[in-house]
Amino acid sequence: MKYRLVPMDRSHLPQVAAIERACFAHPWPETMLEQELYNDMLSLVAAEGEDGTVLGYGEVRAVLDEGTLEKIAVAPAFRRQGVAEAILRAYLRFGASHLAFLTLEVRESNAPAIALYEKLGFQVVGRRKNYYRELHEDALLMTVEFHRDELRTCIHNR
Ligand SMILES: CC(C)(COP(=O)(O)OP(=O)(O)OC[C@H]1O[C@@H](n2cnc3c(N)ncnc32)[C@H](O)[C@@H]1OP(=O)(O)O)[C@@H](O)C(=O)NCCC(=O)NCCS
Repeated sequence: MKYRLVPMDRSHLPQVAAIERACFAHPWPETMLEQELYNDMLSLVAAEGEDGTVLGYGEVRAVLDEGTLEKIAVAPAFRRQGVAEAILRAYLRFGASHLAFLTLEVRESNAPAIALYEKLGFQVVGRRKNYYRELHEDALLMTVEFHRDELRTCIHNR
């Protein structure tokens, strides 16, 4: 399966909205997703197959040097093929040069997502009690830090 990571644009929105519906209890409609495209603090990436099929997508919010992974989802038919990992690795590469940390919240029962985040170096740093009220479920707060200060010190000390 060949795909490339591209900045999300309006042409992707119907498929992204369909993936939202397949993945989340409260899916965002196309209109809401479209507003995100024009928000300068957000980076939206789509994994696009050769025929234009959207396999998955991600969204990171960056405020100064603090990053938050707002969304990551892969269409059920394309899971377990490394798509989410590729998207997240792209954000981690960005983070390593632009952010102090990248953080996220995840349902504590979402084992696939937690395994993905742990594989890529995120650690559990906190818990938000009953964050998903309707589900009576806690959110785990997971973060990866980029140690840019250490990097800067290394560079200056050379
Ligand atoms: C979580 C999700 C994004 C993973 O997408 P994916 O493209 O299937 O994940 P990848 O194939 O890139 O997997 C990368 C790693 O994540 C972990 N992982 C992914 N899915 C997993 C599963 N079902 N069970 C266990 N580990 C899993 C594994 O460590 C995997 O590495 P490996 O293949 O070497 O074992 C996908 O299941 C999804 O869209 N879920 C619904 C939306 C969601 O919950 N998003 C997260 C909200 S916080």
